[in-house]
Amino acid sequence: MRFSLLTLPILGVTCLNDAFDTREATISGVHTALFTGLSTCTEIISSFISRIDTYNPTINAIISLNPSALSLAAELDARLAAGNATGSLFCIPILLKDNYDAVGMNTTAGCLDLAGNQPTKDAPAVKAFKDAGAIILGKANLHELALEGISVSSLGGQTINPYDHTRTPGGSSGGTGASIAASFAVFGTGTDTVNSLRSPASANSLFSLSSLIP
Ligand SMILES: *[C@@H]1O[C@H](CO)[C@@H](O)[C@H](O)[C@H]1NC(C)=O
Ligand SMILES: *[C@@H]1O[C@H](CO)[C@@H](O)[C@H](O)[C@H]1NC(C)=O
Repeated sequence: MRFSLLTLPILGVTCLNDAFDTREATISGVHTALFTGLSTCTEIISSFISRIDTYNPTINAIISLNPSALSLAAELDARLAAGNATGSLFCIPILLKDNYDAVGMNTTAGCLDLAGNQPTKDAPAVKAFKDAGAIILGKANLHELALEGISVSSLGGQTINPYDHTRTPGGSSGGTGASIAASFAVFGTGTDTVNSLRSPASANSLFSLSSLIP
């Protein structure tokens, strides 16, 4: 199976006087805030959810949120307090293109007919992210069934490019691309059979990385 990531090229900045500043946050920025005691995992995850609540009505990049994200963050805070914070992605908030199976969230591919499709098993990439400590915040819109490149779907509607609302976010992984450009998560996943990673990466000023999972 092929899986891919979309990520920002710029170093993150952490704002110290308020909730965690999600803008352009990186893995190392989140870990610095967490391991120096500037933020808890709960604060970090809450800040990303609040960013989504504020800007997703405009960007329309998210199909669903993970109802367990905050309880998982509380579990990670307990592990941190016990001196047991392991995993290279400990408390890193990520988003999944909605064609990745993750138990506890429906996999829709943006298709109304799949709105109630409940997976019983995590996709291998999702399991690897969970095992590394990442927190899945939710699922991102895509071009329906990943079949075209402008990221419109019957379930999710049209995703908007955060840099210019008149331009395409690219696709098919355009919900992830727009989400990461809007700092809804530190990174997110896409899938690619032609240019579904390069297109949203170029439209949203991101890097995309591809990898084959055996
Ligand atoms: C540390 O956390 C891991 C993952 O939750 C758990 O399997 C392990 O038992 C914990 N170790 C200790 C010493 O609490
Ligand atoms: C997910 O699917 C279940 C079962 O079909 C349904 O009850 C639930 O409302 C769906 N969740 C969402 C967010 O659509």
